Amino acid sequence: MDVAAAVTWNRPLSSDYNVLALAAPAIAAAAAPGQFVMLKAGAGSDPLLRRPFSVFEILRDATGAATGLTILSKRIGVSTALIYDASRGQRIGCLGPLGRPFTVVDPPTDAWMVAGGVGLAPFATLAQALHARGVKSTLFYGARRGTELFYLDFFRALDVELVLTTEDGSAGEKGRVVAPLDRRLAARAPSSAVMLYACGPEGMLAATARTATTYGRPCQVSVERIMGCGLGGCYSCVIPMRNEHGGFHHVRSCIAGPVLPADQIVWE
Ligand SMILES: Cc1cc2nc3c(=O)[nH]c(=O)nc-3n(C[C@H](O)[C@H](O)[C@H](O)COP(=O)(O)OP(=O)(O)OC[C@H]3O[C@@H](n4cnc5c(N)ncnc54)[C@H](O)[C@@H]3O)c2cc1C
Ligand code: FES
Repeated sequence: MDVAAAVTWNRPLSSDYNVLALAAPAIAAAAAPGQFVMLKAGAGSDPLLRRPFSVFEILRDATGAATGLTILSKRIGVSTALIYDASRGQRIGCLGPLGRPFTVVDPPTDAWMVAGGVGLAPFATLAQALHARGVKSTLFYGARRGTELFYLDFFRALDVELVLTTEDGSAGEKGRVVAPLDRRLAARAPSSAVMLYACGPEGMLAATARTATTYGRPCQVSVERIMGCGLGGCYSCVIPMRNEHGGFHHVRSCIAGPVLPADQIVWE
């Protein structure tokens, strides 16, 4: 579906992060956790191309019907600056839902989500899906500083245990998010099943993948390659994956992913 969605609200969370709500009910109703939309933030030729964003929240009315979706955006360039400044009523081209979603586990498997920075985005809908299935969930969430840890009460309300880290030590444990993940995995009985889900900078994803392999745990990662089309047409988003012959081949992460099995990715 490709719609010119009206901005219903725009909430700044910090000087760089904002949450933008779009009236795109059909896309919202069809979206599964981990899927994304391609947004065209400006009307002219700059930016020429749409940009990919995870579906952050599904907005619903009193009857539970989807009325729209939000995205959690971090300002890094031309499109995200336009998204940060977007005003109510403005139209934003919204194409989706796109890509392969997370596979949601069932009890007795626990779910451990690992988020770095804006990599939190796909976990709001995933946490809701896990909560609905009664899965015990933990969110390992790392940011540069405490003021960039967002939506903590949202996850607490879904009974998600929070393990927080910051690079400057201003909230949670000082350091990288993979450190407490490693310790928790080391302490966990091998017989108790856990599925890891990760989204964030590629270095963090690679470290999470290595940690998952060390402890023999399955891990689904949502990769963030630069995407020109989101539809499989431009090959800007390829990522090397191992094949059964011991070599590797490139897959288009917009259609084979963005959620991919961590142990099959060739981390560079
Ligand atoms: C599947 C998917 C889901 C995403 N979900 C979110 C989300 O929920 N929230 C969010 O804020 N961002 C998300 N991103 C990243 C987002 O698409 C980029 O931040 C956005 O395209 C930047 O556009 P821009 O025009 O503001 O920056 P540009 O002006 O295009 O780029 C600014 C700089 O950032 C670099 N850059 C652009 N895109 C990426 C990227 N994907 N990875 C690394 N460097 C990049 C460029 O090379 C350039 O140096 C997602 C990306 C993917 C692939
Ligand atoms: S973004 Fe164009 S092929 Fe993946």
